[in-house]
Amino acid sequence: MTKILVAIDGSESAWKALDLAIKLAQPQGASLLILHVIPYEPIGEGLRKFAAAEHVPYEQEQALFHYARTLGDNLTRDAEKSARRAGLAAVEGRTAEGRPAEQILALAAAEQVDMIVLGSRGRSDAKALFLGSVSHKVANQAGCTCVTVK
Ligand SMILES: Nc1ncnc2c1ncn2[C@@H]1O[C@H](COP(=O)(O)OP(=O)(O)OP(=O)(O)O)[C@@H](O)[C@H]1O
Ligand SMILES: [Mg+2]
Repeated sequence: MTKILVAIDGSESAWKALDLAIKLAQPQGASLLILHVIPYEPIGEGLRKFAAAEHVPYEQEQALFHYARTLGDNLTRDAEKSARRAGLAAVEGRTAEGRPAEQILALAAAEQVDMIVLGSRGRSDAKALFLGSVSHKVANQAGCTCVTVK
């Protein structure tokens, strides 16, 4: 195994995924690619319609997106630091914008990674299902081995 992609969203499950990805990369000398995706629609379609109806200024949404970008960059940097501290030499952190599952799958294909590691759940509170929508879609559509960490 030469290249592992780990996707992080700041959730407990994703930190566990990062830990496992580091442990898997260590003995193999694999390179680690860390990805955080900033969703295009930080407030979602429903709230967007509400905002339009209530005349909440668009700049406020831009500020929210900017905040998400800053947080995302910091999150990626923190994860990168942890991986380096654990002794990994080849570590790269990236942030992308768009739909999380699509961006994860696109990067995995472009970089021809050998394995994708994700948390089973993310930041959403709906814990009734074992997998969240991102981990579900990625596990179904990935062209390589995909590990979901509980
Ligand atoms: N924006 C993101 N960027 C990178 N990785 C992500 C992102 N969102 C989710 N993931 C990855 O997918 C895993 C599962 O999260 P997912 O979003 O599927 O669950 P959820 O938030 O509980 O449910 P849902 O988002 O479907 O309401 C996370 O632990 C993380 O590894
Ligand atoms: Mg989620």
